[in-house]
Amino acid sequence: MKSIQVFQPEFLLHGADYNYEQWLGYPDILAEDFRLIREAKCNVMNAGIFSWAMLEPAEGEYHFEWLDQLMDSLAENGIRAILATPSGAKPAWMSQVYPEIRLVDEHGRREPHRLRHNHCPTSPIYRQKVKQMNTLLAERYKEHPALLLWHVSNEYGAHGCHCGLCYAAFRKWLQERYGSLDALNHAWWTTFWSHRYTDWSQIEPVDRSVHGLMLDWMRFISDQVIDFYLAEIEPLQEIAPDVPITTNFMQPNVGLDYWKFAQYVDVVSWDSYPRWHSQQEEWPIGLKTAFFHDLHRSYKRQPFLLLESTPSVTNWQGISRPKKPGLHFLSSLQAVAHGSNGVQYFQWRQSRGGQEKFHGAVVGHVSHGHTRIFQEVTAVGRYLAQLGDLVNTCNRAEVAILYDLQNEWALNLAQLPRSEEKHYQERCVAHYQPFWEKGITVDLIDSSTADLSPYKLIVAPMLYMLRDGIEERLGRFVHQGGTLVITYLSGLVDQSDLCFIGDFPLRSLLGLWVEETDVLFTHDVQSLEAVPNNDLGLKGSYPITHFADIIHLDRAQAMAHYGHDYYAGYPAITVNHYGNGRSFYIAARSDRRFLHDFYSSLSHQLRLPQAIQTQLPTGVTAQLRHNDSKQYLFLMNFQPTSQEISLGESDYRDALSAERLRGVLELEGYGLRVLRLDD
Ligand code: GLA
Ligand code: ZN
Repeated sequence: MKSIQVFQPEFLLHGADYNYEQWLGYPDILAEDFRLIREAKCNVMNAGIFSWAMLEPAEGEYHFEWLDQLMDSLAENGIRAILATPSGAKPAWMSQVYPEIRLVDEHGRREPHRLRHNHCPTSPIYRQKVKQMNTLLAERYKEHPALLLWHVSNEYGAHGCHCGLCYAAFRKWLQERYGSLDALNHAWWTTFWSHRYTDWSQIEPVDRSVHGLMLDWMRFISDQVIDFYLAEIEPLQEIAPDVPITTNFMQPNVGLDYWKFAQYVDVVSWDSYPRWHSQQEEWPIGLKTAFFHDLHRSYKRQPFLLLESTPSVTNWQGISRPKKPGLHFLSSLQAVAHGSNGVQYFQWRQSRGGQEKFHGAVVGHVSHGHTRIFQEVTAVGRYLAQLGDLVNTCNRAEVAILYDLQNEWALNLAQLPRSEEKHYQERCVAHYQPFWEKGITVDLIDSSTADLSPYKLIVAPMLYMLRDGIEERLGRFVHQGGTLVITYLSGLVDQSDLCFIGDFPLRSLLGLWVEETDVLFTHDVQSLEAVPNNDLGLKGSYPITHFADIIHLDRAQAMAHYGHDYYAGYPAITVNHYGNGRSFYIAARSDRRFLHDFYSSLSHQLRLPQAIQTQLPTGVTAQLRHNDSKQYLFLMNFQPTSQEISLGESDYRDALSAERLRGVLELEGYGLRVLRLDD
């Protein structure tokens, strides 16, 4: 079942996870909450996320009165509900009566009842219980005026369950994929170390030396979690077909193929917890967070929702400093700048007990609003209320970075001569950085779901695994006039993780072949030296670290050569004119300065649109959200000190005050301004 609709809210969302059920014995607090919720300009609350034990305290005994009361109070106060299904944590009685719902680890030990997010994704009993609960919720609240959106479960994870039910499902999944054991043995290259399977029942996903097995296990788990989710939403879709659905995603490295998952939600939402202040400079954290926001917009190429973020600190990151004044506003509006239709927090009120009692919240244990955090949250709420017009506008990109999660899984499994610091995600961020610095919007794409047609430029760092015919689609893209950048460690294996034999499939597209890859220790010295009059006007020398492919050219031209060692003079950067387009190969890991120079020149040649035509200071960036009639320019300063931005010749107005702005704009430390471009 595909997603059924596009979620287009009428306002920018502002709110938080509201654990109302924890406070049922404290009526004064609940009454005060509604006053404070209005004061903080919240218009939506995430409700009922971990409430199963309160909704069904004993099997078949339901208590919806408190949730009725919450939903009614929200409606009376003009606040909408993002109502959760409670499957993220199961009640103790259920764990006791039905042990099969508890996850089993790889040593065969079944989890005791504890924590959360640890159910077996296959268990028919758990699926049935969840369906039953979701049916009751949907029937009861489908027409409730507060209900805005379903929040299905919470942060589904990919904690593989090793129970008999999951193993049986995995073997069935493998049978469908491979058809025969012979095909499977070939795909996994099991003759290696005598791993050949002679019966499906021998297959146990616990052997990290069989990479094909482990990769398929990850794929299976991801599919199984999506399948569980699809079972969860069945009653919601049947009973309340007009209510859209989301589930909160996390950072992409959790083992779920979110590219696939995103096809089944009506709106992508995610939980963002950057470690602000954890580095000497703030802007690299802003950069990485921007990459993640863009990723979540890109999953569906639609606006997304920031469903959780902390108003101050977390309590699970080792050290988490309170956000310094201004940073809350900046980090919240940053999500909006990249396409979020709102800002939401974990959590509204700090718990009194339990593991998260010292996690940040809008309302702390002091229990009133006379705090810096509450005031800063309120400022965000006020601002969003006045920016309401920009809801459902979106960012548009002409450049995309291929960030393929299955490629990341495979690359992480691969044992290379240098396995340290492969850093796939970090390198994707490094290639993203020059665009972020110039205020050029970037989409992320993946190998199987991507539509390449909107883009002029596609960047594919470390595309180790070629799957689902991506090499053909990239070839067509370049042939038709597109520009492609690919780097070292690309095109090594097929989708079963088997190495290509003979010519690698990118040979004609790149016009070269790779003989070997040097890997460098930190004391090793290597560089690339630009060739005069190269395609991008690169000049001088740049350092190389970690990986350096030694390549031979067929039709490609060298733009830079290596400067040292036994392959000095061999090509290090190349360009191949292919059909109507060009494909560049960056054969080695380069530094920030190189990527900056390389992409500056390329962006200029391709006339990639910048949010603002100006040179932005370090740590300052810009994003544009628009539709056919409106354009909103976000200027963001991730430096703690004020920075000046030249507005050039364009006529801008402050999006709120309509004040005309020309010349130089001063952005205070951690400052953010939203401007409108006069037509
Ligand atoms: C996650 C969970 C929340 C809460 C926060 C704490 O995002 O979804 O329930 O535990 O982390 O940061
Ligand atoms: Zn299981």
